[in-house]
Amino acid sequence: MKSITISTTIDIYDSIEELPLEVINLMKSAVEARDNAYAPYSKFHVGAALLLDNNEVIPGSNQENASYPSGLCAERTAIYYAGAKYPKAIIKRIAISATSQNHAVTEPIPPCGACRQAIAEYEIKQNEPIEIYFMGESGKVAKSNSLKGLLPLAFDKSYL
Ligand code: THU
Repeated sequence: MKSITISTTIDIYDSIEELPLEVINLMKSAVEARDNAYAPYSKFHVGAALLLDNNEVIPGSNQENASYPSGLCAERTAIYYAGAKYPKAIIKRIAISATSQNHAVTEPIPPCGACRQAIAEYEIKQNEPIEIYFMGESGKVAKSNSLKGLLPLAFDKSYL
């Protein structure tokens, strides 16, 4: 038996103001996208914004459903729309922000496992890393330079 150790680096910024203007603006788009969340069940509103290499910003928000599993997260709403509208564009970075009607969200909210898997597919497809920035409604911002940093041992097409 041997063990493997997998390490990852996440940068933590004390506040959004520490980031470059381009990232601040993308996070503003994510915050705006949050307002379009349809989250009557969880009351947890998530916004995502993707920056493409054609300079388009693609927003997404979580869309819930009375049949709970039929709903979709903000990140996948955005990335599938980007894939549908601009199939050849490169995704440079994603900003994510979450808020709740029930409590203050002051910690960075990482994308769920299913969204990581979906983002991994596009990162592999484009063969260029996607920067991921995520936060709550205020407070610290977390950054991974690549989706790989958030999803070790990802399942990909090489196994098919
Ligand atoms: N949600 C997202 O939109 N993104 C995530 O990465 C985590 C969870 C949404 C799904 C659901 O509408 C609500 O947050 C509560 O899970």
